[in-house]
Amino acid sequence: MDQDIERVLYSEQELASLCDSIAQSINNDYIGRDVVLVCMLKGSIMFYADLVRRINVRCILDFMAVSSYGSAAVSSGKINIKKDLSESIKGRDVIIVEDILDTGNTLYYIKDYLEKRDPASIRICTLFDKPSRRKKPITPDYTGEVIDDLFIVGYGLDYDERYRNLPYVGVLRPEIYR
Ligand code: PRP
Repeated sequence: MDQDIERVLYSEQELASLCDSIAQSINNDYIGRDVVLVCMLKGSIMFYADLVRRINVRCILDFMAVSSYGSAAVSSGKINIKKDLSESIKGRDVIIVEDILDTGNTLYYIKDYLEKRDPASIRICTLFDKPSRRKKPITPDYTGEVIDDLFIVGYGLDYDERYRNLPYVGVLRPEIYR
């Protein structure tokens, strides 16, 4: 285990079973439909890659990269689009795939931004949800786990761009980010 990690919260096996159950729900809900699965870079890359391999309905994969303006400590809720979708979503069913839903600022803005393109529907899928941190009225349609307000990294999630490559999700030692 990485020495900066206090404890493992979700092992590779546990993450795989979370992906199994989310994919099963999506597969059931979208039978006979054609869905655009949107990966929100960079945090959701691992989850996305594992999820889409379990999806058995027709789908298109596309990618977005966004960032908040200013420092996290003084989040204005305004979002900067660094990379937009490359495919049209007009008339299509869209699922936004996120690693974590925290304040909701990102998805509140992005959902509204994408709705202006007239998709048939937009749903939100998140591996982790921290509802205790919510500032915007955003509720995910598919959730892996509801978690406490812990500083977690790994499996795509970072601290200062590090730890994304860890195959598990762990709690970061407080002395690292204090
Ligand atoms: C994380 C995460 C979500 C967002 C959630 O992304 O992937 O996009 O924060 O936070 P919110 O609900 O408070 O808006 P981050 O900006 O850290 O970028 P990353 O995906 O590149 O790690």
